[in-house]
Amino acid sequence: MLFEPLAFTSGQVMPNRFMLAPLTNQQSHADGRLSDDEFTWLTMRAAGGFGMTMTCGVYVRDEGKGFPGQLGLTEALHFDSHRRMAEGIKAHGSLAVMQLIHGGMRAIGQNGEQILAPSDVARKGARAMTAAEVARTREAFIQAAVWAEECGYHGVELHGAHGYLLCQFLSPEVNTRDDQYGGGLDNRSRLLWEIIDGIRARCRPDFVLGVRLSPERFGMRLDEIGALYQDLCASGKVDFMDMSLWDIFKEPEEEAHRGRRLLDIFAALPRAGTRLTVAGKITTGADVRLAMDAGVDFVAIGRAAILHHDFPAKVKAEPDFTPVALPVSPSHLRAEGLSPTFVTYMRNWQGFVADDSAGDTAA
Ligand SMILES: Cc1cc2nc3c(=O)[nH]c(=O)nc-3n(C[C@H](O)[C@H](O)[C@H](O)COP(=O)(O)O)c2cc1C
Repeated sequence: MLFEPLAFTSGQVMPNRFMLAPLTNQQSHADGRLSDDEFTWLTMRAAGGFGMTMTCGVYVRDEGKGFPGQLGLTEALHFDSHRRMAEGIKAHGSLAVMQLIHGGMRAIGQNGEQILAPSDVARKGARAMTAAEVARTREAFIQAAVWAEECGYHGVELHGAHGYLLCQFLSPEVNTRDDQYGGGLDNRSRLLWEIIDGIRARCRPDFVLGVRLSPERFGMRLDEIGALYQDLCASGKVDFMDMSLWDIFKEPEEEAHRGRRLLDIFAALPRAGTRLTVAGKITTGADVRLAMDAGVDFVAIGRAAILHHDFPAKVKAEPDFTPVALPVSPSHLRAEGLSPTFVTYMRNWQGFVADDSAGDTAA
Protein backbone atom coordinates (compact mmCIF):
# COMPACT_ATOMS: atom_id res chain seq x y z
CA MET A 1 0.00 0.00 0.00
CA LEU A 2 2.76 2.43 0.99
CA PHE A 3 4.33 2.18 -2.42
CA GLU A 4 1.12 2.14 -4.41
CA PRO A 5 0.03 5.27 -6.28
CA LEU A 6 -2.71 7.54 -5.00
CA ALA A 7 -5.07 9.44 -7.31
CA PHE A 8 -6.50 12.81 -6.31
CA THR A 9 -10.05 13.78 -7.26
CA SER A 10 -8.80 16.44 -9.64
CA GLY A 11 -6.80 13.85 -11.55
CA GLN A 12 -3.12 14.00 -10.58
CA VAL A 13 -1.48 10.84 -9.25
CA MET A 14 1.04 10.64 -6.42
CA PRO A 15 3.41 7.72 -7.05
CA ASN A 16 3.54 6.59 -3.41
CA ARG A 17 2.25 7.57 0.03
CA PHE A 18 5.14 9.74 1.28
CA MET A 19 4.92 13.53 1.30
CA LEU A 20 7.76 15.78 2.35
CA ALA A 21 6.18 18.10 4.93
CA PRO A 22 6.60 21.84 4.28
CA LEU A 23 9.85 22.84 5.99
CA THR A 24 11.04 26.41 6.30
CA ASN A 25 14.82 26.37 6.00
CA GLN A 26 15.90 30.01 5.60
CA GLN A 27 18.35 29.08 2.85
CA SER A 28 17.17 31.29 0.00
CA HIS A 29 18.01 34.86 -0.96
CA ALA A 30 16.92 37.97 0.94
CA ASP A 31 14.67 39.01 -1.98
CA GLY A 32 12.79 35.69 -1.99
CA ARG A 33 14.62 34.12 -4.94
CA LEU A 34 15.73 30.49 -4.83
CA SER A 35 19.29 29.69 -3.77
CA ASP A 36 21.31 26.68 -4.90
CA ASP A 37 21.21 25.47 -1.27
CA GLU A 38 17.41 25.36 -1.18
CA PHE A 39 17.33 23.72 -4.62
CA THR A 40 19.77 21.03 -3.48
CA TRP A 41 17.92 20.38 -0.22
CA LEU A 42 14.53 19.87 -1.91
CA THR A 43 15.61 18.00 -5.02
CA MET A 44 17.54 15.55 -2.83
CA ARG A 45 14.22 14.72 -1.09
CA ALA A 46 12.45 14.24 -4.44
CA ALA A 47 15.30 11.97 -5.52
CA GLY A 48 15.05 10.16 -2.19
CA GLY A 49 11.62 8.83 -3.06
CA PHE A 50 9.03 11.31 -1.77
CA GLY A 51 5.90 10.96 -3.92
CA MET A 52 5.03 14.57 -3.12
CA THR A 53 7.69 17.15 -2.43
CA MET A 54 6.30 20.24 -0.79
CA THR A 55 8.24 23.47 -0.67
CA CYS A 56 8.64 25.54 2.46
CA GLY A 57 5.90 28.05 3.09
CA VAL A 58 6.29 30.58 0.25
CA TYR A 59 5.18 34.12 1.09
CA VAL A 60 2.58 35.69 -1.19
CA ARG A 61 3.04 39.32 -0.10
CA ASP A 62 6.07 41.16 1.25
CA GLU A 63 4.33 42.15 4.45
CA GLY A 64 3.46 38.47 5.00
CA LYS A 65 7.06 37.23 4.94
CA GLY A 66 7.63 35.16 8.08
CA PHE A 67 11.33 34.24 7.97
CA PRO A 68 14.65 35.50 6.65
CA GLY A 69 15.79 33.55 3.61
CA GLN A 70 12.24 32.44 2.81
CA LEU A 71 11.14 31.74 -0.76
CA GLY A 72 8.66 34.24 -2.18
CA LEU A 73 6.20 34.40 -5.05
CA THR A 74 5.05 37.99 -5.25
CA GLU A 75 6.35 39.23 -8.61
CA ALA A 76 8.03 38.29 -11.89
CA LEU A 77 11.42 38.42 -10.15
CA HIS A 78 10.54 35.03 -8.61
CA PHE A 79 9.38 33.17 -11.73
CA ASP A 80 12.74 31.72 -12.80
CA SER A 81 13.32 30.41 -9.28
CA HIS A 82 10.08 28.50 -9.28
CA ARG A 83 10.43 27.19 -12.81
CA ARG A 84 13.77 25.72 -11.75
CA MET A 85 12.38 24.38 -8.46
CA ALA A 86 9.34 22.72 -10.03
CA GLU A 87 11.43 21.24 -12.84
CA GLY A 88 14.00 19.90 -10.37
CA ILE A 89 11.36 18.16 -8.26
CA LYS A 90 9.44 16.75 -11.21
CA ALA A 91 12.61 15.34 -12.77
CA HIS A 92 12.47 12.66 -10.06
CA GLY A 93 8.83 11.73 -10.69
CA SER A 94 7.61 13.48 -7.54
CA LEU A 95 4.57 15.75 -7.40
CA ALA A 96 5.77 19.34 -6.99
CA VAL A 97 3.54 21.27 -4.59
CA MET A 98 4.14 24.76 -3.21
CA GLN A 99 2.91 25.78 0.22
CA LEU A 100 1.47 29.32 0.21
CA ILE A 101 1.65 31.41 3.35
CA HIS A 102 1.02 34.89 4.69
CA GLY A 103 2.49 35.38 8.15
CA GLY A 104 -0.04 37.97 9.35
CA MET A 105 0.86 38.95 12.92
CA ARG A 106 3.76 36.48 12.83
CA ALA A 107 5.46 38.24 9.90
CA ILE A 108 8.89 39.78 10.42
CA GLY A 109 8.35 43.18 8.80
CA GLN A 110 11.86 42.89 7.40
CA ASN A 111 11.79 46.04 5.33
CA GLY A 112 9.73 48.10 7.73
CA GLU A 113 6.39 46.89 6.33
CA GLN A 114 3.33 47.37 8.54
CA ILE A 115 2.43 44.03 10.16
CA LEU A 116 -1.18 43.16 9.27
CA ALA A 117 -3.59 40.75 10.96
CA PRO A 118 -7.36 40.19 11.04
CA SER A 119 -7.55 42.45 14.12
CA ASP A 120 -5.18 44.71 16.02
CA VAL A 121 -2.61 42.73 18.02
CA ALA A 122 -0.67 45.32 20.01
CA ARG A 123 1.99 42.95 21.35
CA LYS A 124 2.93 42.08 17.76
CA GLY A 125 2.65 45.63 16.42
CA ALA A 126 -0.05 44.34 14.07
CA ARG A 127 -2.88 46.44 12.70
CA ALA A 128 -6.28 45.11 11.59
CA MET A 129 -6.58 44.71 7.82
CA THR A 130 -9.00 47.02 6.06
CA ALA A 131 -11.57 45.42 3.74
CA ALA A 132 -9.37 46.45 0.80
CA GLU A 133 -6.35 44.76 2.39
CA VAL A 134 -8.31 41.55 2.91
CA ALA A 135 -9.29 41.64 -0.78
CA ARG A 136 -5.67 42.32 -1.76
CA THR A 137 -4.50 39.38 0.35
CA ARG A 138 -7.10 37.06 -1.19
CA GLU A 139 -5.93 38.08 -4.65
CA ALA A 140 -2.28 37.54 -3.66
CA PHE A 141 -2.94 33.91 -2.68
CA ILE A 142 -4.93 33.23 -5.86
CA GLN A 143 -2.37 34.99 -8.07
CA ALA A 144 0.47 33.02 -6.47
CA ALA A 145 -1.37 29.76 -7.23
CA VAL A 146 -1.86 30.83 -10.86
CA TRP A 147 1.85 31.68 -11.11
CA ALA A 148 2.79 28.40 -9.42
CA GLU A 149 0.83 26.57 -12.09
CA GLU A 150 2.51 28.60 -14.84
CA CYS A 151 5.91 27.83 -13.34
CA GLY A 152 5.18 24.11 -13.57
CA TYR A 153 4.04 23.04 -10.12
CA HIS A 154 1.39 20.32 -9.86
CA GLY A 155 -0.42 22.23 -7.13
CA VAL A 156 -0.42 24.31 -3.98
CA GLU A 157 -1.24 23.87 -0.32
CA LEU A 158 -2.82 26.74 1.64
CA HIS A 159 -1.20 27.18 5.04
CA GLY A 160 -4.16 27.54 7.38
CA ALA A 161 -2.29 26.21 10.44
CA HIS A 162 0.18 27.21 13.16
CA GLY A 163 -1.13 30.70 13.86
CA TYR A 164 -0.26 32.30 10.50
CA LEU A 165 -2.68 34.64 8.73
CA LEU A 166 -5.34 32.19 7.51
CA CYS A 167 -5.28 30.50 10.93
CA GLN A 168 -5.55 33.94 12.57
CA PHE A 169 -8.73 34.56 10.59
CA LEU A 170 -10.10 31.18 11.75
CA SER A 171 -9.24 31.91 15.37
CA PRO A 172 -11.98 33.38 17.59
CA GLU A 173 -9.16 34.56 19.89
CA VAL A 174 -7.27 36.57 17.29
CA ASN A 175 -10.10 37.51 14.92
CA THR A 176 -12.49 39.98 16.55
CA ARG A 177 -13.68 41.63 13.34
CA ASP A 178 -17.28 42.72 13.05
CA ASP A 179 -17.52 42.53 9.25
CA GLN A 180 -18.23 39.47 7.08
CA TYR A 181 -14.77 38.04 7.93
CA GLY A 182 -15.35 37.92 11.71
CA GLY A 183 -17.91 36.40 14.07
CA GLY A 184 -19.13 32.82 13.51
CA LEU A 185 -17.05 30.11 11.88
CA ASP A 186 -18.70 30.76 8.50
CA ASN A 187 -17.39 34.30 8.56
CA ARG A 188 -13.99 33.44 10.02
CA SER A 189 -13.43 30.83 7.31
CA ARG A 190 -14.75 33.08 4.51
CA LEU A 191 -11.30 34.23 3.36
CA LEU A 192 -10.07 30.63 3.10
CA TRP A 193 -13.14 29.63 1.06
CA GLU A 194 -12.80 32.65 -1.23
CA ILE A 195 -9.18 31.76 -1.93
CA ILE A 196 -10.14 28.15 -2.67
CA ASP A 197 -12.91 29.29 -5.03
CA GLY A 198 -10.56 31.71 -6.75
CA ILE A 199 -7.92 29.03 -7.30
CA ARG A 200 -10.51 26.59 -8.63
CA ALA A 201 -11.84 29.24 -11.02
CA ARG A 202 -8.46 30.35 -12.34
CA CYS A 203 -6.21 27.26 -12.31
CA ARG A 204 -6.58 24.24 -14.55
CA PRO A 205 -9.01 21.53 -13.37
CA ASP A 206 -6.30 19.03 -12.43
CA PHE A 207 -4.30 21.51 -10.34
CA VAL A 208 -3.80 19.86 -6.94
CA LEU A 209 -5.17 21.90 -4.03
CA GLY A 210 -4.46 21.03 -0.40
CA VAL A 211 -5.30 22.79 2.86
CA ARG A 212 -3.24 22.54 6.03
CA LEU A 213 -5.04 22.98 9.35
CA SER A 214 -4.00 22.42 12.96
CA PRO A 215 -6.53 21.69 15.68
CA GLU A 216 -4.77 23.11 18.74
CA ARG A 217 -3.21 26.38 19.98
CA PHE A 218 -3.83 29.88 18.60
CA GLY A 219 -7.49 29.57 19.58
CA MET A 220 -8.19 26.58 17.34
CA ARG A 221 -10.86 24.33 18.84
CA LEU A 222 -11.23 20.73 17.85
CA ASP A 223 -14.98 20.90 17.18
CA GLU A 224 -14.58 23.91 14.87
CA ILE A 225 -11.60 22.50 13.02
CA GLY A 226 -13.43 19.17 12.70
CA ALA A 227 -16.49 20.95 11.25
CA LEU A 228 -14.39 22.96 8.81
CA TYR A 229 -12.45 19.83 7.83
CA GLN A 230 -15.69 18.04 7.00
CA ASP A 231 -17.10 21.00 5.04
CA LEU A 232 -13.91 21.31 3.01
CA CYS A 233 -13.94 17.59 2.27
CA ALA A 234 -17.64 17.59 1.34
CA SER A 235 -17.20 20.56 -0.99
CA GLY A 236 -15.23 18.50 -3.49
CA LYS A 237 -12.98 21.54 -4.03
CA VAL A 238 -9.97 20.31 -2.08
CA ASP A 239 -7.80 17.37 -3.13
CA PHE A 240 -6.25 16.75 0.24
CA MET A 241 -6.35 17.85 3.85
CA ASP A 242 -3.00 18.04 5.62
CA MET A 243 -3.64 17.88 9.36
CA SER A 244 -0.66 19.22 11.27
CA LEU A 245 -0.94 17.51 14.66
CA TRP A 246 2.69 17.86 15.88
CA ASP A 247 2.24 14.42 17.52
CA ILE A 248 -0.27 12.24 15.70
CA PHE A 249 -0.29 9.72 18.53
CA LYS A 250 -1.23 12.11 21.31
CA GLU A 251 -4.68 12.80 22.67
CA PRO A 252 -6.21 16.28 22.34
CA GLU A 253 -5.49 18.99 24.90
CA GLU A 254 -9.22 19.63 25.25
CA GLU A 255 -10.69 17.60 28.11
CA ALA A 256 -13.96 16.98 26.26
CA HIS A 257 -12.18 15.13 23.44
CA ARG A 258 -9.81 12.97 25.49
CA GLY A 259 -9.80 9.22 25.06
CA ARG A 260 -8.86 9.07 21.37
CA ARG A 261 -5.68 9.96 19.50
CA LEU A 262 -5.77 13.05 17.27
CA LEU A 263 -4.87 10.73 14.40
CA ASP A 264 -7.97 8.58 14.95
CA ILE A 265 -10.27 11.56 15.40
CA PHE A 266 -9.47 12.95 11.94
CA ALA A 267 -9.14 9.58 10.21
CA ALA A 268 -12.68 8.72 11.38
CA LEU A 269 -14.36 11.88 10.05
CA PRO A 270 -16.13 11.47 6.69
CA ARG A 271 -14.00 12.89 3.88
CA ALA A 272 -15.70 11.76 0.65
CA GLY A 273 -13.02 11.65 -2.07
CA THR A 274 -10.72 14.11 -0.33
CA ARG A 275 -7.43 12.55 0.71
CA LEU A 276 -6.04 12.85 4.22
CA THR A 277 -2.45 13.20 5.32
CA VAL A 278 -1.18 13.86 8.84
CA ALA A 279 2.10 15.21 10.21
CA GLY A 280 3.67 14.91 13.63
CA LYS A 281 6.35 12.60 14.95
CA ILE A 282 6.13 9.99 12.22
CA THR A 283 9.76 8.95 12.39
CA THR A 284 10.05 5.20 11.83
CA GLY A 285 8.76 2.61 9.40
CA ALA A 286 6.51 1.33 12.19
CA ASP A 287 5.06 4.83 12.72
CA VAL A 288 4.28 5.08 9.02
CA ARG A 289 2.40 1.77 9.16
CA LEU A 290 0.50 2.82 12.30
CA ALA A 291 -0.66 6.01 10.60
CA MET A 292 -1.69 4.19 7.42
CA ASP A 293 -3.44 1.47 9.43
CA ALA A 294 -5.41 4.18 11.24
CA GLY A 295 -6.86 5.13 7.86
CA VAL A 296 -4.92 8.07 6.43
CA ASP A 297 -4.17 8.10 2.69
CA PHE A 298 -0.56 9.25 2.91
CA VAL A 299 1.93 10.43 5.52
CA ALA A 300 3.76 13.75 5.84
CA ILE A 301 7.33 13.49 7.09
CA GLY A 302 9.18 16.46 8.56
CA ARG A 303 12.16 15.98 10.84
CA ALA A 304 12.83 12.38 9.79
CA ALA A 305 13.21 13.70 6.23
CA ILE A 306 15.70 16.29 7.44
CA LEU A 307 17.69 13.41 8.94
CA HIS A 308 17.36 11.16 5.89
CA HIS A 309 16.75 12.63 2.44
CA ASP A 310 15.76 9.14 1.25
CA PHE A 311 13.43 8.23 4.11
CA PRO A 312 10.89 6.57 1.74
CA ALA A 313 13.62 4.52 0.07
CA LYS A 314 14.96 3.54 3.49
CA VAL A 315 11.51 2.36 4.64
CA LYS A 316 11.09 0.44 1.40
CA ALA A 317 14.39 -1.34 1.88
CA GLU A 318 13.87 -1.92 5.59
CA PRO A 319 10.24 -1.80 6.79
CA ASP A 320 11.32 -1.27 10.41
CA PHE A 321 13.70 1.53 9.56
CA THR A 322 14.60 3.82 12.47
CA PRO A 323 16.37 7.12 11.89
CA VAL A 324 19.75 8.06 13.29
CA ALA A 325 19.63 8.93 17.00
CA LEU A 326 19.36 12.58 18.11
CA PRO A 327 21.19 14.84 18.57
CA VAL A 328 22.79 14.50 15.20
CA SER A 329 26.12 15.96 14.13
CA PRO A 330 26.27 18.99 11.83
CA SER A 331 28.34 16.93 9.41
CA HIS A 332 25.55 14.36 9.14
CA LEU A 333 23.11 17.14 8.28
CA ARG A 334 25.55 18.66 5.76
CA ALA A 335 25.84 15.26 4.08
CA GLU A 336 22.03 15.15 3.95
CA GLY A 337 21.97 18.36 1.94
CA LEU A 338 21.48 21.06 4.60
CA SER A 339 23.53 24.23 4.23
CA PRO A 340 25.22 25.78 7.30
CA THR A 341 22.29 28.24 7.49
CA PHE A 342 19.73 25.45 7.75
CA VAL A 343 21.88 23.56 10.28
CA THR A 344 21.98 26.72 12.41
CA TYR A 345 18.21 27.11 12.10
CA MET A 346 17.73 23.51 13.27
CA ARG A 347 19.47 24.44 16.53
CA ASN A 348 16.15 26.09 17.46
CA TRP A 349 14.75 22.56 17.82
CA GLN A 350 16.16 21.53 21.16
CA GLY A 351 18.13 18.31 21.13
CA PHE A 352 18.21 18.03 17.32
CA VAL A 353 21.74 19.21 16.46
CA ALA A 354 24.75 18.14 18.52
CA ASP A 355 27.36 20.67 19.55
CA ASP A 356 30.10 21.08 16.98
CA SER A 357 32.82 18.53 17.41
CA ALA A 358 36.18 17.95 15.77
CA GLY A 359 35.72 17.49 12.06
CA ASP A 360 32.44 19.40 11.97
CA THR A 361 33.92 22.85 11.83
CA ALA A 362 32.83 23.32 8.21
CA ALA A 363 29.23 23.31 9.45
C1 LIG B 1 12.53 23.21 10.55
C2 LIG B 1 11.03 23.15 10.41
C3 LIG B 1 10.40 24.02 9.55
C4 LIG B 1 9.01 23.97 9.36
N1 LIG B 1 8.41 24.79 8.45
C5 LIG B 1 7.09 24.68 8.19
C6 LIG B 1 6.48 25.42 7.14
O1 LIG B 1 7.10 26.18 6.39
N2 LIG B 1 5.14 25.25 6.96
C7 LIG B 1 4.38 24.40 7.73
O2 LIG B 1 3.18 24.26 7.53
N3 LIG B 1 4.97 23.66 8.71
C8 LIG B 1 6.28 23.77 8.94
N4 LIG B 1 6.86 22.96 9.89
C9 LIG B 1 6.08 21.88 10.50
C10 LIG B 1 6.29 20.57 9.70
O3 LIG B 1 5.76 20.66 8.40
C11 LIG B 1 5.67 19.35 10.41
O4 LIG B 1 4.28 19.49 10.43
C12 LIG B 1 6.19 19.19 11.82
O5 LIG B 1 7.60 19.29 11.85
C13 LIG B 1 5.78 17.85 12.44
O6 LIG B 1 6.27 16.79 11.66
P1 LIG B 1 7.59 15.95 12.11
O7 LIG B 1 7.36 15.51 13.53
O8 LIG B 1 7.66 14.84 11.12
O9 LIG B 1 8.75 16.91 12.04
C14 LIG B 1 8.24 23.04 10.11
C15 LIG B 1 8.88 22.18 11.00
C16 LIG B 1 10.26 22.21 11.16
C17 LIG B 1 10.92 21.22 12.07
